[in-house]
Amino acid sequence: MNFTTIRWDHDESALVLLDQTRLPGEVVYEHCRDLPSVAEAIRRLKVRGAPAIGVAAAFGVVVGARHSRAVDYASFSREVDDAVDLLAATRPTAVNLFWALERMRRAVREHQGASVADLKNALLSEAEAIQAEDETTCRLIGEHGAGLLHSGQTVLTHCNAGALATSGTGTALAVVYQAHSEGKRIHVYADETRPVLQGARLTSWELAQAGIGVTLICDNMAAQVMKEGRIDCVIVGADRVAANGDVANKIGTYGVAVLADAHDVPLYVAAPFSSIDLSIESGHEIPIEERAAAEVSQGPGGRTAPEEVAVYNPAFDVTPARYVSAIITERGVARQPYAERLAALSHQAWEPAVTG
Ligand code: MRU
Repeated sequence: MNFTTIRWDHDESALVLLDQTRLPGEVVYEHCRDLPSVAEAIRRLKVRGAPAIGVAAAFGVVVGARHSRAVDYASFSREVDDAVDLLAATRPTAVNLFWALERMRRAVREHQGASVADLKNALLSEAEAIQAEDETTCRLIGEHGAGLLHSGQTVLTHCNAGALATSGTGTALAVVYQAHSEGKRIHVYADETRPVLQGARLTSWELAQAGIGVTLICDNMAAQVMKEGRIDCVIVGADRVAANGDVANKIGTYGVAVLADAHDVPLYVAAPFSSIDLSIESGHEIPIEERAAAEVSQGPGGRTAPEEVAVYNPAFDVTPARYVSAIITERGVARQPYAERLAALSHQAWEPAVTG
């Protein structure tokens, strides 16, 4: 990749983010030097995509701790708890956020009684470990998933589950990148992904950067494109997968899944275990974020609806497991029945061999 989504600047002790709200027009890196600016970056989608949100939040805790004037373990750990609570309130659906923040909290607890300087170092090491594991996880998802693709195939994807959504090569797009690197000819159709156009602005941008053929379509064209036989499979990412295999992902994924089913096109979900929430039985328990009305009533060119119109803007939907042909994880590919297969993969001894 010729861009870096998330980077820790050791000299400045700052989190550096590629501001995704300015793509594809401008490649601008933002330095977040305090906790509120990290929280704001996550809320405003400057950094987005479930794994990237988790990594950014972990570094957000580090950025917050950098300003700490605490002198002992107890007061430092209270400050970390407050930082975690603030970051946890930014976005509710992607479980990676809570998973990463819990790891940061645990990193402090595991150093009970340590000096504040040592605790700050422990937090930085944990955030760096989360980021390095994410990179490895993306590579493994790509390797497991690439076997599902044959040369000459066309993949439909929704939203952006690529390098911009992770610290590595992505989840859904990692599969495409890996297949491409194995010499398979793969073409991608990208849904534009209303309302904030992650498919148009981000997926088509990063695939073009990587030299992978991409065709952009409006969301409402997917049915026709499938009927014309242009799509061999759908691959999407996930913000949270329930124990039964129900998948929360960007709004519109459910519709794509129903269309794929109607046209006998397999739909694969590529997701790391940090997106899999085995504590909830089904997708009914997944909190769905509602975002500002302006995302729907105003396009990039200005207002597209009258000011007084009521707007409903759920940012995610839940695709029932019956529409999911397979879930591609870093530990292998799970198929139905997901409750059993995901649980089995989660118990499998597994260490993320971080290769950097
Ligand atoms: O609102 P966003 O842009 O954070 O939503 C992102 C998605 O829905 C992605 O598909 C999902 O996080 C998977 S990212 C590998």
